[in-house]
Amino acid sequence: MAMKKAATEDVVQTGKGKFIALEGIDGSGKSTQIQYLAERLKEKQIRYYTTMEPTDSPIGSLIHQIMTGRVKTDNRVIAALFVADRLDHLLNDVNGIAPMLEEGITVISDRYYFSSYAYHSVDMPMDWVISANSQCSDIVKPTATVFIDVAPDTALERIAKNRFHKELFEKKSRLIQVREKYLEAFEKQKDMENIILVDGNRPPEKIAEDIWGQLEKYFL
Ligand code: ADP
Ligand code: TYD
Repeated sequence: MAMKKAATEDVVQTGKGKFIALEGIDGSGKSTQIQYLAERLKEKQIRYYTTMEPTDSPIGSLIHQIMTGRVKTDNRVIAALFVADRLDHLLNDVNGIAPMLEEGITVISDRYYFSSYAYHSVDMPMDWVISANSQCSDIVKPTATVFIDVAPDTALERIAKNRFHKELFEKKSRLIQVREKYLEAFEKQKDMENIILVDGNRPPEKIAEDIWGQLEKYFL
């Protein structure tokens, strides 16, 4: 099967790859922690590939156009597009997650279906969102979902330092809601999923140590 080469060293690794999903509200430090984690995996000579949702596929591009206001549609359509983007993320034969895991490559994703559970259930029933994503959880359940829990105020401060945001107030109330929905989703799914909660209100190196301390056992 044709496959884009992952950003890895050439190392022999037997068995299936691990799938680690990073979750958190906007500005929680996911991409920062992915860099730390990738560094660890590189040191340990573990083959890995980093990716994110929404993806850069045609479906992901449509989502980006909706999120920037270039294309308008209903919230239910957006939730369904995220499912379509995720299925393509899992199954496509160029850089699909499922074939990579099958090849023994560890995949780290910035967001996966818990993002849908949290973000879309602000506007619609969470059970609808969970069942709309059921194909994805049947195809690939993460080895672990790491939730970086950050106070919405802290996340907003971090975002404001880097980006221009004119609707900060609106954003804050949304981040509060999304964080609550994440916690609700974790509680709902706790018997079916391996969820690791970390305190993200600390220096990045401390958070990285904490995350690695909890993930190391999957890479022994
Ligand atoms: P996300 O990918 O979740 O949106 P980022 O990793 O891009 O978050 O982090 C958002 C901003 O906050 C960046 O400017 C980053 O440098 C900064 N940042 C990330 N982690 C921390 C931390 N633990 N403490 C302080 N600032 C952080
Ligand atoms: P983006 O700017 O790509 O990244 P981030 O905030 O993670 O640095 O924005 C992704 C946005 O898409 C974010 O606000 C969460 C949202 N989202 C959903 O609403 N549903 C989903 O299923 C996913 C994966 C993301």
